[in-house]
Amino acid sequence: MATEEENTGNVKRELEKVFDLALKATVPNETDVRPLIAACTAKFGDYQCNNAMGLWSKIKGKGTEFKGPQPVGQAIMKNLPPSEMIESCSVAGPGFVNVVLSKNWMAKNIQKMLVDGIETWAPKLRVKKAVVDFSSPNIAKEMHVGHLRSTIIGDSLARMLEFSNVEVLRRNHVGDWGTQFGMLIEYLFEKFPNSEDANETAIGELQEFYRRSKNRFDSDPAFKERAQQAVVRLQSGEPKYHEAWAQICEISRKEFDKVYKRLRVDLEEKGESFYNPYIPGVIDELSKQGLVEESQGARVIFIEGVNIPLIIVKSDGGFNYASTDLAALWYRLNEEKAEWIIYVTDVGQQLHFDMVFSAAKRAGWLSADDSTYPKASHVGFGLVLGEDGKRLRTRFSEVVRLVDLLDEAKNRSKAVLIERGKDKEWTEEELEQTAEAVGYGAAKYFDLKNNRLTNYTFSFDQMLNDKGNTAVYLLYAHARICSIIRKSGKDIEELKKTGSLVLDHADERALGLHLLHFSEVIEEALTNLLPNVVCEYLYNLSEYFTRFYSNCQVQ
Ligand code: ARG
Repeated sequence: MATEEENTGNVKRELEKVFDLALKATVPNETDVRPLIAACTAKFGDYQCNNAMGLWSKIKGKGTEFKGPQPVGQAIMKNLPPSEMIESCSVAGPGFVNVVLSKNWMAKNIQKMLVDGIETWAPKLRVKKAVVDFSSPNIAKEMHVGHLRSTIIGDSLARMLEFSNVEVLRRNHVGDWGTQFGMLIEYLFEKFPNSEDANETAIGELQEFYRRSKNRFDSDPAFKERAQQAVVRLQSGEPKYHEAWAQICEISRKEFDKVYKRLRVDLEEKGESFYNPYIPGVIDELSKQGLVEESQGARVIFIEGVNIPLIIVKSDGGFNYASTDLAALWYRLNEEKAEWIIYVTDVGQQLHFDMVFSAAKRAGWLSADDSTYPKASHVGFGLVLGEDGKRLRTRFSEVVRLVDLLDEAKNRSKAVLIERGKDKEWTEEELEQTAEAVGYGAAKYFDLKNNRLTNYTFSFDQMLNDKGNTAVYLLYAHARICSIIRKSGKDIEELKKTGSLVLDHADERALGLHLLHFSEVIEEALTNLLPNVVCEYLYNLSEYFTRFYSNCQVQ
C-alpha cells in the first residue's frame, strides 16, 4: 500500500531504497553510506549506482575482503533484494552498477500516473511555505526587459513550487519609496495645483512625467529644495503628501498590471513602503545583539570577507534599500512564517543579497547551513543583449519598454498565422488568442531555456522559429498530440483505465523512460532554482515524442 512517504513517480528515490538495502548488506559496518543513484548517460542501462568507488576508498586498508572498487560493485549488485522495478543489472568500469528497468514496471507506473494524475508525481519537498520575491519594478519608472526576466523566471519558480505542494507567497517588492518621490510629488503639485485634475490621463506616461520632473529637479535649485522638503513631509506622514504619493503609485500599478495580465502572472504587491514601520524595531533588535556598529556617521553591519559594510542607517538618519530588505526578511520569517525566501533579480544585486543574508545568519534568523531551513536564496540572472552584443536598447538608446516587446512578439506571430491562412479558418478572437499564446509563450521560453546566469541575445526571429528549441516547436508537438487524440475518436479517460500500456518498441520505451524522469527533474530544477532544466526536459520530451509517433503507428 502506498504510504505517505512512498513516491512511486520518483524512480531515483525508489531505486535509492532498493540500493540502500544492498549497501547495508555489502558493508554492514559502514554507517552513513547514502546511495548515489543517477540516470545513465551511456547506453549500458537506465540508471546507475555510483557508490563503489567512494566506498572502496573508505574501506580499503581496514582489513576488507574486497580487492578493489569493481568487486565492491559486484557485491552491491549481488546483494540487491529482488525488485519488480529491475529487469537486469551489470557492473561496469570501477564498480558502477547499471540498472535496466523492467518495462512492465515502467508501463504499470506510467499508467498509474495517467489514472491518478500527474500531481502524484510531484516531488516531495521538505519545505511547506515559501516567498518568491520577483518582478519588483520601480514606481514611475518603466518596466524594462530586466524586469521581464525577473517576472518570467520568478513566476516559473513559483509555479514549480506550487506544483510541488508548497504554499507560495508571490511577492512584488515594488520600489515605491525613496527620495525620487519628493521630486515627483512636487512636480505633481506644480502641474496640477488642483488635485482633482491630476488623473491618469492628464498625467500621461509616468516615465515621461518622471523625466520631466527630474529635469526640473536638476535645473532649478528652488524646486530641488522643495522636493527635498517634500520627502521629509511624506515620510512624516503629512496627508496631502501621502495622498499624492498614493496617486502616483496607483497609476504605476495599473500600468504594471497590464503586463502581468498579458503574461498571466499573479503577484501580490507588498512594496518597500509596506516594511517601513518594521525597520526601527528590526534595527533595534540587531543593535541589541551587538551587530550594528558606527562607521563614518552611518550605522552599519560588518560582514566577514567583505570589505565594505552593509549600511542600514545612512549618515543623515534615513533608511535605505538594505534596511528595507532586512525588515522584509524579518517580516517574511516571523510574520509570514516562510521557510524558504527566494529573490529573483539581476546578478548585479548578488553582493547586496549575500550581505543581507550574512547579516541575517549572524543574527540567527537564518540557518548558517544552507542545506537546512529557514533559508534565503538569491536567484540571479544575466543581461538581455541586443544583436550588437550590448545591453538591449532601442535605436534611440533607451531602455526597451516591455509592452513594446510583447506587442512585437504578438504581432509577428499573428503575421505568420495570417500567412498560413489561419485568418480565414478562425474567428478574429481565435486568431488573437493564438497569436498571444505563441508570441508571449515564445518570449517566455526563449528567456527560460538558457541557464539564467548567462547573458542572452534577444532575437524575435530565433524565438519565433518553428524548428529548434523554441516554444513554437513545443507548442507544435503538443498540438500534434492533441490532434492524435482527437482523430482517434476514443474516450481518453476511459482508455487510461481500460487500455494497457506496452513499451515494446525502442522508441516507446525511450519515451516512457523520459516520462519517468519527470519527478526527479522537477526536484533537481527546484533544488538549484533553474527553470532551464525543465525547458530541457520538455524539449527532449517533444523530441522523444516526435520519434515515437514517426516510428510507431499511433492510429
Ligand atoms: N526594485 C528592485 C529593482 O528594480 C528589485 C527589488 C528586488 N527585491 C528585493 N527584496 N530587494 O532593481
